[in-house]
Amino acid sequence: MAEQQQCLEETANATYEAALERSKKLEADIAAHPERHRVLTGDRPTGRLHIGHYFGSLQNRVRLAKLGVPTCILIADYQVLTDHDAYTEIAQNTKQLVIDYLAAGIEPSDTVIIYPHSYVPEANQLMLPFLTLVSNAELNRNPTVKEEIQAAGLKSVNAGMYTYPVHQACDILFCKGDVVPVGKDQLPHLELTRTIARRFNERFSPQKPVFPEPQALLSKTPSILGLDGSQKMSKSRGNAIMLSASEDETAALIKKAKTDADRHITYDPVHRPEVANLLMLISLCTGEEPELIAERIGDGGGGMLKKLLTEALNETLRPLRTKRRELETQPDYIKSVLLDGAEKARALAVKTLDEVRAAMNMVI
Ligand code: TRP
Repeated sequence: MAEQQQCLEETANATYEAALERSKKLEADIAAHPERHRVLTGDRPTGRLHIGHYFGSLQNRVRLAKLGVPTCILIADYQVLTDHDAYTEIAQNTKQLVIDYLAAGIEPSDTVIIYPHSYVPEANQLMLPFLTLVSNAELNRNPTVKEEIQAAGLKSVNAGMYTYPVHQACDILFCKGDVVPVGKDQLPHLELTRTIARRFNERFSPQKPVFPEPQALLSKTPSILGLDGSQKMSKSRGNAIMLSASEDETAALIKKAKTDADRHITYDPVHRPEVANLLMLISLCTGEEPELIAERIGDGGGGMLKKLLTEALNETLRPLRTKRRELETQPDYIKSVLLDGAEKARALAVKTLDEVRAAMNMVI
């Protein structure tokens, strides 16, 4: 058993190393030929975004879009149904996500689009052939799905939970997305997408592949812990600072953040994870190395550390928050961004579905 576990871990590490290697090459090629690629990323509409999302993924999306890479940002509203009861708030959360994206600097255009995946029927239709390309066993052993089932404490698991990674392949492949900026937890899904693309091409279109094998673009930002310093920042754990928080709310949250008993501030992620996380957040705001920030604070202690973080974070987020408040007053515009994005996504999906039909000999 222990041996089997170790073997599984080794495979996961090897997959991660391989993905990291590919990710680095991809980054170089994107810089040279942005127009040859297409970025596809997405979030579930389960609430507003927090600063972990901002530093971990939003900034990277803005960077890629500004480089000129065509970008599809999808809002995974169907995926919410797999483990959340809160379906009553899906539309509201979808609009809040758009506000966060736009405030963070995403600019919708002919090539940068934002849309809910439920509004793109032709992309969803890819689900049927794709389901025939994977086995039950493959779906059952997806480690991210297993973790989600555990974390949600579900008594009975619906089939959507096991099959949403196949749906994610539809999300990515309908527009022939080849660059998927994601965190490590999404790698099993991306591996499945690659498998589906490969099997589809081999089975139905060996002469002329229909789909690219998309690649993960792994984030360089270290994972950001919550203000409790012990686990990943997330709204549901109550340890997050939302992008929409006011400056006073931000200050109050940081005041309560966990530090440790040692007054002298040092940057030591292994032994002092709470302090290191706060230093890292300042560093993400100011660009200064966390070691240098720690040195500067020295015996200033937790109080000074928190004061610096509050100032740095509020200053960094000020333009975003101003824009956010403005966008809150423009619900018609937010809706039009989504509908316009959905229309453009559909145009791409219709084209791909036509190719898929032809490859499967279903054109009558
Ligand atoms: N599974 C992702 C999550 O849980 C959301 C998602 C759905 C996604 N479709 C996607 C991410 C396509 C990247 C690409 O956060």
